[in-house]
Amino acid sequence: MVQLTLPKNSKIRTGKTWPKPEGATNLRKLDIYRWNPDDGENPRVDTYFIDMDSCGPMVLDALIKIKNEIDPTLTFRRSCREGICGSCAMNIDGINTLACIYGLDEVKGDIRIYPLPHMPVVKDLIPDLTHFYAQHASVMPWLETTTNEPRKEWRQSIDDRKKLDGLYECVMCACCSTSCPSYWWNGDKYLGPAALLHAYRWIVDSRDEATPERLDDLEDPFKLYRCHTIMNCARTCPKGLNPAKAIMEIKKLMIERAV
Ligand code: SF4
Ligand code: SF4
Ligand code: FES
Repeated sequence: MVQLTLPKNSKIRTGKTWPKPEGATNLRKLDIYRWNPDDGENPRVDTYFIDMDSCGPMVLDALIKIKNEIDPTLTFRRSCREGICGSCAMNIDGINTLACIYGLDEVKGDIRIYPLPHMPVVKDLIPDLTHFYAQHASVMPWLETTTNEPRKEWRQSIDDRKKLDGLYECVMCACCSTSCPSYWWNGDKYLGPAALLHAYRWIVDSRDEATPERLDDLEDPFKLYRCHTIMNCARTCPKGLNPAKAIMEIKKLMIERAV
């Protein structure tokens, strides 16, 4: 699987080891990245023990249990708890994934949990996704049309609708972009796999009428062409999507329109 580097502001020190739950016999150890912007300290890794006999099966269950029963200051994002909202993305045992659909039994031994790599950290496991969302917005992730609005709806054939499969399911979790070496080094200018997957989702939509403008905007040495088909994005996507393929399709369209 993908081996990932640590977050940008990492000078990690050993943190606190929290007491084991009393009377528990089925214990699991978790090492969790902690950083508080308000205490002036470097990041640390705290160690927690949870009683597996009273814990749900997913990594997010363990985090919620720690927050509820051991350390209420532990900070992370979550909402849907079923892999739909994309907010619980984090690096678990070296893999960018969604904590709510990643089983504790998928990790052998102690469980290491860090924020998504190479992003500024807001607090503990929460990365700052401001730039990531701005890049998403920059690809105009909506239907662009010039003809008059139809009375009822924009129609699409079944075959054209199928072209959106493998694209529309993206939950914008940022697991792919934060596993991409090109994005680590050039994330200020390279759009990264998530934004480019969304760009392609609208380029390939038969109802959209802005394909030339969309392609013009991506015709840039950094925005698109920094993808070197390393494939980390497809390997790590918790929804099983393949952003690298979408990027390849955009590059093919660029060549087709140039000849
Ligand atoms: S295939 Fe492209 S976008 Fe995906 S990880 Fe590699 S360089 Fe990044
Ligand atoms: S393509 Fe996959 S990994 Fe990337 S943002 Fe979408 S759901 Fe997350
Ligand atoms: S909590 Fe929504 S995807 Fe994990």
